[in-house]
Amino acid sequence: MHLSTVLPTLTPLFLAARVNARQADGNNCSLPNDSIRWEPCVINGDQPADCGKLLVPLDYSNVTAQDKIDISIVRIPAPIQPSKAGIYLNFGGPGAAGITEFAEFLPRLQAATGNNHDLINVIPRGTNDTITFSCYEDPVSRRFGTEPIAGNASDVATGALWARASLLAQNCGMTQNETGRFVGTVSSATDTVRVAELLEEDQMLRFWGMSYGTLLGETLAALFPEKIDKMLLDGVVNPFDYYQNIEVSFMASIDDTFRGFCTGCVNAPQECPLARNNTAEQLEQSVFDFLDRLKENPIPLADPSVVGGGILIDYSFAKTYILSQLNFPRLWPDMADMLDMIMTLQLTGAVPPDAGDLIEGILSLTQMAGSGGDESQFGIKCGDVIRGNQPLEEVVPIFEARQELSYFGDSADQVLAYCAQWQLPAQPVFDGVFSSEGIRNPILIVNNRFDPATSLINARNVSETFEGSVLLEQNSYGHTSLVQGSLCTALAIRAYFASGELPPAGTVCEGAVPLFSGSDGWPEVIQMLASNATLP
Ligand SMILES: *[C@@H]1O[C@H](CO)[C@@H](O)[C@H](O)[C@H]1NC(C)=O
Ligand SMILES: *[C@@H]1O[C@H](CO)[C@@H](O)[C@H](O)[C@H]1NC(C)=O
Ligand SMILES: *[C@@H]1O[C@H](CO)[C@@H](O)[C@H](O)[C@H]1NC(C)=O
Ligand SMILES: *[C@@H]1O[C@H](CO)[C@@H](O)[C@H](O)[C@H]1NC(C)=O
Ligand SMILES: *[C@@H]1O[C@H](CO)[C@@H](O)[C@H](O)[C@H]1NC(C)=O
Ligand SMILES: *[C@@H]1O[C@H](CO)[C@@H](O)[C@H](O)[C@H]1NC(C)=O
Ligand SMILES: *[C@@H]1O[C@H](CO)[C@@H](O)[C@H](O)[C@H]1NC(C)=O
Ligand SMILES: *[C@@H]1O[C@H](CO)[C@@H](O)[C@H](O)[C@H]1NC(C)=O
Ligand SMILES: *[C@@H]1O[C@H](CO)[C@@H](O)[C@H](O)[C@H]1NC(C)=O
Repeated sequence: MHLSTVLPTLTPLFLAARVNARQADGNNCSLPNDSIRWEPCVINGDQPADCGKLLVPLDYSNVTAQDKIDISIVRIPAPIQPSKAGIYLNFGGPGAAGITEFAEFLPRLQAATGNNHDLINVIPRGTNDTITFSCYEDPVSRRFGTEPIAGNASDVATGALWARASLLAQNCGMTQNETGRFVGTVSSATDTVRVAELLEEDQMLRFWGMSYGTLLGETLAALFPEKIDKMLLDGVVNPFDYYQNIEVSFMASIDDTFRGFCTGCVNAPQECPLARNNTAEQLEQSVFDFLDRLKENPIPLADPSVVGGGILIDYSFAKTYILSQLNFPRLWPDMADMLDMIMTLQLTGAVPPDAGDLIEGILSLTQMAGSGGDESQFGIKCGDVIRGNQPLEEVVPIFEARQELSYFGDSADQVLAYCAQWQLPAQPVFDGVFSSEGIRNPILIVNNRFDPATSLINARNVSETFEGSVLLEQNSYGHTSLVQGSLCTALAIRAYFASGELPPAGTVCEGAVPLFSGSDGWPEVIQMLASNATLP
């Protein structure tokens, strides 16, 4: 569920020249706070930042244990200094370090928060080089363990994915038995509070969580309410379902989102050749038919240089691919092009002229699974589950409920199956209560109406759970407000972090641009925020 579709290709070059240029601007934020060891660094190739390390206990559940680990912190000073306070970000996953996202989305994050807050990413445990969670030494074993199988691919698929998930759960149990229990959300939440205690004058947190980051935020609010000043939850996870491994309703908006893709395509046929004079319903049906045919006749795309000898476009693979692309409307024209090529190939056998691009495009997506290509997503998410092992009989009704809710409902069965059989429960385990009690300001909640990964239903649930919170609905498609710009949403976020002011209940914000317009609206929003003198 993490936000970037590119591999985290991070290069923290210690480019002194760049950092000196920033200091000359007067933005000197590299002042050490006692125990955090800061170094100037560059993330994502060209973004100067402060990179810090802090020594913390490995095991917060055992006060007598002595083992310590270094956690990493990335801070980007506010463009307008002196900065007001830090805003702590988490970009979701779980399993994403969020470093690439931080750099890529920085202009959006800064514009939406008014350019006057330092932005801080406490790198979650299990990711990057903080007790990295990896169960395989080579990509061939990994590929076997994580190849997607959708539960409805055949009448034997459920048994197959369950057994294969057991292999992965056991492999991780064997290889991660030293530190694999200490990557849970409670540990990362505790790390985040420790950093804020050192960095913030009031020792409190201002937090913006996206996707799984909302689960981290909900956990922070439950365990450390007195440490929360302001909290924005953006693309909301239902914490009850997450911690029980019984997630169903997060899929409630997938089919409407896919319908939006089809409608957007036929409304802009010049941008979307896949439309082919179809109505939206016809287009949708033709994709469903394509997927059904893949069950019997998968399409092989050979490439001996690729692990596994190429790509097998089968039903499970294609569904997983479409579902992940639905998160990012900016990529919908690309998805339409790829579907057009593959569907043509299926019907006519015509290999597209740019088949190399096709394989490359598809591969760049599949490699992102998890995040850095390891098992950190499962190490965190599955370790967090508080219910203990679930037998297949207990899980099948969840598979079925998902299938009833969405055509794509069988596309994440494997993750559920990993977690049901997980062998490394987190230490400490979550034992909090979700409520607003003790939090300084009520929570701001933002959710797109058509978010395929975190449905509006869950955002409503969380808004009711955290009394006093306000849910702002953005009438957009995709996962979190970062993927579709809205001036109205950005202004609400600014006002909230500036003063705690919430938008009126029932606020609906429109996106800045239509689908298939060639833009996701953020450049327009940033422009308006920068040039419009009447705005705050
Ligand atoms: C920035 O902070 C460092 C560390 O305290 C200090 O050595 C340096 O002189 C400062 N630079 C500026 C331009 O204030
Ligand atoms: C806590 O840590 C101590 C010291 O390492 C160790 O002896 C003890 O077994 C640990 N307790 C648990 C419950 O892990
Ligand atoms: C951690 O992130 C840095 C960039 O900040 C990158 O250079 C490094 O390769 C990453 N390490 C791992 C183990 O992913
Ligand atoms: C982890 O597994 C290895 C190999 O089986 C074993 O030697 C080691 O003692 C285990 N460590 C813990 C903490 O259980
Ligand atoms: C840490 O440093 C920041 C400036 O970078 C300062 O605002 C803050 O008060 C310091 N925190 C503590 C606890 O000294
Ligand atoms: C769409 O329909 C028009 C008129 O019936 C026809 O001329 C055109 O070739 C069709 N386009 C496609 C892509 O099928
Ligand atoms: C699963 O397959 C059955 C039988 O082919 C079909 O009726 C049902 O709609 C499918 N469900 C999903 C989510 O694909
Ligand atoms: C939120 O969802 C959980 C789990 O699905 C449910 O138990 C709870 O009653 C819901 N809360 C509200 C306020 O709807
Ligand atoms: C400035 O912002 C207001 C909304 O606050 C909007 O109505 C107006 O069109 C904007 N003007 C420009 C030039 O962007």
